[in-house]
Amino acid sequence: MKVTYYGHACIAIETKEKTLLFDPFISPNEKAAHINVEDIHADYILLTHAHLDHVADAEAIAQRCGSKLISNYEVTNHYGAKGIDVHPMNHGGKASFEFGVAKYVNAIHTSSFQDGSYGGQPGGFVVWNDEGCFYHAGDTALTMDMKLIPMTCPKLDFALLPIGDNFTMGYEDAVLAAEFAQVNKVIGIHYDTFGYIEIDTAAAKKAFADSGKELILLSIGESINI
Ligand code: NI
Ligand code: MN
Repeated sequence: MKVTYYGHACIAIETKEKTLLFDPFISPNEKAAHINVEDIHADYILLTHAHLDHVADAEAIAQRCGSKLISNYEVTNHYGAKGIDVHPMNHGGKASFEFGVAKYVNAIHTSSFQDGSYGGQPGGFVVWNDEGCFYHAGDTALTMDMKLIPMTCPKLDFALLPIGDNFTMGYEDAVLAAEFAQVNKVIGIHYDTFGYIEIDTAAAKKAFADSGKELILLSIGESINI
C-alpha cells in the first residue's frame, strides 16, 4: 500500500488500483500550501466526522473525480443531497468495496458541520484486503473500544493515530492506543497544524520507541510504501 500524507488528518492510500482519500483538509491548511488540491485523485473519500478540518475539500474533490464518499449516515446524507455518490455506514458495521473491506469503528469525539448542523457520531475506519490492514482513528480520545479492533479485524499492519493533544489524545495516550489495537507501526496525524496541537515531535517519537513501537512522521506531500 502506498501512503501519502497531505497534512493534518488527510492521508491517501493507494491499494488494489484504487485511491482512498481520508479527511481532506488541504486548501485551508497553511502548512499544506504547496499541495495543489486539483492534482489529487480520489476514487473513494472516507470521512471520519463532519468537522471542517476533516471535510473542507471533500465536496470539490468528489465532484471533480466522481468519488464515492463513505462516512456515517448523517455525513453521507449531507453530501448525497449535493449529488455526490455516497455509501452510508454506522458504528460496528463493515462493507465490501472494490478496494476491500471497510469497517466504521468507534471514536470518542464530537461531529458537527461548520454551520452547527448535526454530523452524526464520529468514527474511525479499519480497512483491509490481501495487501494489508490499517486503522485510521479519526479524531478520538484513547478508548477501551480500541481493544475490539484486534478481536474483530485482521492483524493491523499500521495505524494512523492522532497525537496532537487538546482536541484528541496526545502522543502518550496514542502509545496506549497502539497497544490496545496491537499495532507496532504508527503514522502520526492531527498535530502541528495550528497552535493548539503543536507538540514536541522528538519526545513523541521517543515515547513510541520506549514502548517498542515506531512513530512515523511524514512531511506534507511525502509518500511511503507499507
Ligand atoms: Ni474533529
Ligand atoms: Mn480534527
